[in-house]
Amino acid sequence: MTLRPAAPEDFAFIRSLTTRPDYTPFIGDDDEARLAEWAASPAARVLIWENGGAKGFAIFREIGDPSGRVELFRLALDRAGGGRGDAFFADLLRFAFRDLNAARVWLDASGENPRAIRIYAPAGFRREGVLRAHWHRPCLGRAVDLHLMGLMRGEWLAAQG
Ligand SMILES: CC(C)(COP(=O)(O)OP(=O)(O)OC[C@H]1O[C@@H](n2cnc3c(N)ncnc32)[C@H](O)[C@@H]1OP(=O)(O)O)[C@@H](O)C(=O)NCCC(=O)NCCS
Repeated sequence: MTLRPAAPEDFAFIRSLTTRPDYTPFIGDDDEARLAEWAASPAARVLIWENGGAKGFAIFREIGDPSGRVELFRLALDRAGGGRGDAFFADLLRFAFRDLNAARVWLDASGENPRAIRIYAPAGFRREGVLRAHWHRPCLGRAVDLHLMGLMRGEWLAAQG
């Protein structure tokens, strides 16, 4: 599997995931114009995870922040529950710490998304806070808790052995 920058031709694939009814409780959706802005911005990366075709995507933001932090803003695979989450996430962290030289990677996740949180925690991410009933999900008609999670560069390096 490889990670590569998304091209405009990939935006339909990305939106096919961010608009999936079974994903919308857990992930936000932005239009192609916004995806193009992020793809063109030095402070963001829109990435495709592929192997003979696109299998997933991720968006990093806040690149270049003086703190060295990078936000893993959005990620999804073309099929959930297939056991590929760990490999996908490991590739994303390698990209963040090696290619982007991140000092810290952080993300937020719905507290009702155990499938994702069970990827993040074994990768070393700590839950650093909970924003209660914070993120309104129109598809649910209510706000869900948001878990803030982070991993420091030193922690990631130590886990590499
Ligand atoms: C999050 C995502 C990338 C994880 O990849 P995945 O291939 O589905 O993950 P896996 O199949 O490896 O499963 C991850 C863990 O969740 C568990 N799991 C799978 N389906 C689950 C479910 N419906 N409920 C609870 N746990 C579940 C698995 O058993 C596994 O845990 P384990 O390693 O302790 O056995 C993927 O599910 C996805 O794209 N989801 C939709 C978008 C999304 O939620 N993005 C994250 C936003 S923060």
